[in-house]
Amino acid sequence: MSAELFRGWELYDRITRANHMKHAETEAAVRAALARRAGPLRVLDLGCGDGRVAADVLAASRVSDYVGVDLSEGALDLHARRPAPGSCLTATRRLICGDIAGTLATLPAGGFDLVLAGFSLHHFPTDRKAGVLGDTARVLAPGGWFVWTDTYRREGESREAFLARLFVEVRTAWVAATPDEREQFVSHIGEFDHPEPLSWMTGRLAARGVALAEVLYRDEFYVSLHFTK
Ligand SMILES: C[S@@+](CC[C@H](N)C(=O)[O-])C[C@H]1O[C@@H](n2cnc3c(N)ncnc32)[C@H](O)[C@@H]1O
Repeated sequence: MSAELFRGWELYDRITRANHMKHAETEAAVRAALARRAGPLRVLDLGCGDGRVAADVLAASRVSDYVGVDLSEGALDLHARRPAPGSCLTATRRLICGDIAGTLATLPAGGFDLVLAGFSLHHFPTDRKAGVLGDTARVLAPGGWFVWTDTYRREGESREAFLARLFVEVRTAWVAATPDEREQFVSHIGEFDHPEPLSWMTGRLAARGVALAEVLYRDEFYVSLHFTK
């Protein structure tokens, strides 16, 4: 199951705090973009984990309702111990322990002003990801934002070539993990990660009426994209 590595959250937390996946840069870029978005916001967070990223990127945003979805009970327990994301003390928070695709299908059309997906949608193979994006477009309100942070492939690059590149990075640069832990990541990524080229990511959403507004961050592995409906 793709949530296995995230059961004990400590390892992933160590990797993100060491900034091996460029959370500092992507969160800063998303936070700055969200500062331009008036609230109150109804927020859906797909693969929310322990809520640390949502707390950071929404710190200055007026959030009226927050729904977080994740398969990892342990991560959601940590989430529940934090204040609800956003600057409103009255925000409601609902945490759903379940699959992103199955949960999305149950959520109302037009029910959210902002959908966040941070490093979670690459877990879906291409055809299932297309369905998830279709439902994401459906649950966004007109004018709503979709902020998608994830790994991505270069145009024309195969999944295997991408993985080979990322494995070199994990094995040589992820020094906050022990060599054994780095191999756990390599094995997890090799089994579960299905990054797409930017043209596919933007094209799929455009076909659903959700247009790319801005590339908030991009390096050789990671991207943060802001879409609007
Ligand atoms: C790499 S972590 C990302 C956490 C956080 N959003 C971030 O940006 O750092 C991926 C999260 O997605 C969750 N996840 C993976 N596949 C999922 C699925 N099909 N449905 C729900 N959650 C899933 C994992 O449990 C994990 O918490």
